[in-house]
Amino acid sequence: MILDKHQRIHNYLRISLTDNCNLRCFYCMPDVDYSFMPSSQLMQADEITEIAKTFIQLGTTKIRLTGGEPLVRKDADTIIKNLSSLPINLSLTTNGVRLHEFIQTILEAQIKSINISLDTLQADKFHLITKRNNFKRVWDNIQLLLENDIHVKLNVVVMRGINDSEITEFVAWTRDTNIHIRFIEFMPFKGNKWVDDKVFTWQDILATIENKYRWIKLKDEANVTTKNYRVPEHKGTFAVISTITAPFCSTCNRMRLTADGRMKNCLFSKDETDILSAFRRGEDIVPLILGNVEAKALERGGQFVEDFHQLQAVGIENRSMIAIGG
Ligand code: 5AD
Ligand code: SF4
Repeated sequence: MILDKHQRIHNYLRISLTDNCNLRCFYCMPDVDYSFMPSSQLMQADEITEIAKTFIQLGTTKIRLTGGEPLVRKDADTIIKNLSSLPINLSLTTNGVRLHEFIQTILEAQIKSINISLDTLQADKFHLITKRNNFKRVWDNIQLLLENDIHVKLNVVVMRGINDSEITEFVAWTRDTNIHIRFIEFMPFKGNKWVDDKVFTWQDILATIENKYRWIKLKDEANVTTKNYRVPEHKGTFAVISTITAPFCSTCNRMRLTADGRMKNCLFSKDETDILSAFRRGEDIVPLILGNVEAKALERGGQFVEDFHQLQAVGIENRSMIAIGG
C-alpha cells in the first residue's frame, strides 16, 4: 500500500506517454521556447510495463495514460495492449484527434471510458484555442466512441470571455446523449498566460447553467475530483472541477509519472523523483515511489494561497502542463 504522511492511500497512477501534441492549446503549451523531450529520454514501452507492474504490486488499481497527446506516440498501440493485460482499470485522456486510428486497439483493450478535451463547440473557436483545424475530426471521433458504447467524459477548461458563453450549449448536449461534461476551472502552469480574471469559478458555472436549467446534485464517489450534477430529464450528466476555488485534495489518491519517468506526487508539486534513471541502473524503485508519495503536501503542492486573486502564477515552481501530462 502506498500511503502519504497524511494517511491518504494512493492507488491511481497517471502515466504521460509524451510531451508532444498535435494541438497547441495556449493554456497548456507555452508558445515560445518549448522543445520536446528527445525520445531517448522517454520511458520506452517495455520500461512503462515494468514500472507499472511495480506500482501494481504496491496496490495501484487504476492507470490513466495522458500526454501531451498520448496517441501521437508511435508505439501507443503497443503500450495500450501491454497495459491492458495487467490487473488494473486502464483509461486514457486524449484530445480525440487520432482516436479513429485506435478504435480497434481500444475495443480490444476493453477500455470502457475515455476522457476527451474539447473546450468549444465552434470550429473557428477551436482553431483560436488549439491553433489547429481539427474540430470536425474530434467531433466525429466522439460520435465514434459513443457508437461503440464507450463512455465519453468531456473536459472543458472554462475561461472567462473565451468559452463561458458556451456552457449551456454543452449542457444541452447531455439532453439526448449519455455524455459526461466536466467543466474545469482554469489553472496556472508555467508559460500558460493564466490571469485570475480569466478564472470562471464553479459557482459562476453553476449560476450560468441555472439561468437555463434546473439541476440536481448527484452523489460523488470516493476520490473523485468532480462535483457531479444532472438536469433531471437529461440522459447525460455534468460536473465541475474546482481546483482553484475549492480544492479536493483531502481525498487525493493520484500519482503521476512524466513521460521522462519523473514521479510527481501532485499536479502542482515542484519536487520530482527520477524513477526512470534508477530503473535503468537496475536499482529498486520501490523506496523511491514510497518516499515520493510520503512527502506529498497536504494541498496543491503546497504552492497556492487561499484567495486565487492573490495568487502569483509566476511564483509557482512547476513544469508547463504539456510536460506534466494533466
Ligand atoms: N487549466 C485547467 N485544465 C487544463 N487542462 C490542460 N491545461 C489546463 C489548465 N491550464 C486540461 C485539459 C485536459 C486535461 C488533462 O487537463 O483540458 O483535458
Ligand atoms: Fe495538446 Fe491537450 Fe495540451 Fe491541448 S491541452 S495542447 S490537446 S495536450
